[in-house]
Amino acid sequence: MFCTSCHGLKADGINPPMDAKTAAMSFGVVPPDLSNVASFTDKKFLFHFIKDPAKASEFKKISMPPMGLNDEQIADIIAYLESTAKKVHGAELFKEACGRCHSAKYQKIYAETPPENLKKYLGKVPPDLSITMKAKGEHYLVSFINKPQALLPGTSMPRVGLNQEATEELMKYLDEISDPYKEQRQKIGMIVLLYMLVMVGLTYAWKKKIWKNIH
Ligand code: HEC
Ligand code: HEC
Repeated sequence: MFCTSCHGLKADGINPPMDAKTAAMSFGVVPPDLSNVASFTDKKFLFHFIKDPAKASEFKKISMPPMGLNDEQIADIIAYLESTAKKVHGAELFKEACGRCHSAKYQKIYAETPPENLKKYLGKVPPDLSITMKAKGEHYLVSFINKPQALLPGTSMPRVGLNQEATEELMKYLDEISDPYKEQRQKIGMIVLLYMLVMVGLTYAWKKKIWKNIH
């Protein structure tokens, strides 16, 4: 499969043809491993992306070239990618779908491509996404990854064609990490509530005791 002249496909034991540093220097970005892409990428998008990467991603300078494959060949490749694809969740999904360009430093996730290569390739270093959900909100994020050009004309972020399930998964993850104290706060809330219940109980018992003495 000629995709593996640039991409790794670990699920099938195929390592990337070059190390991350060399790949980043050659392409401006480390080409993602293809093992699981079919599980989180929209099938139609994948088809159009393989056919014409620049057009489908809306990023004219994308460094994956069109390969002149016909529809049948593309369908075969997609069927093959579907056979290797496992579902990925949370941090793994983030790393596989966005992690070649973006970091989430609070989660200790660092972009696979060195920032200087990304800057050269994309004109700027992609922002850290640790708290992006708080800053941008889910509605904007979903629209942005599906149609970056519509929201940020001229942007160099390529369209990432996530399918609906993966979009929801990723939003859930970005929401969780953008508010790391949420769980802790909820726990504290429960403790306060329990404490109050115990106090009410004790006060009641105490009152009952006093009344008993009076009567
Ligand atoms: C000449 C090298 C090269 C070849 C050959 C190549 N790719 Fe890529 N591919 C890349 C690079 C570089 C990227 C990352 C581009 C970016 O994110 O700007 C990429 C990205 C991708 C993505 C991610 C798309 C997304 O939306 O996130 C998929 C899927 C993909 N390639 C599939 C394939 C398939 C399938 C083949 C074979 C038919 C193939 N590639 C052949 C270099 C290549
Ligand atoms: C090929 C590299 C690349 C990939 C892959 C990528 N991004 Fe980006 N992203 C960028 C760049 C470059 C920018 C800066 C865009 C700009 O300011 O024009 C950006 C900006 C963003 C922003 C900020 C938008 C704004 O309004 O300022 C968000 C949010 C974002 N990306 C989310 C994602 C998510 C989520 C994924 C994965 C599903 C992803 N990106 C995948 C390169 C990438």
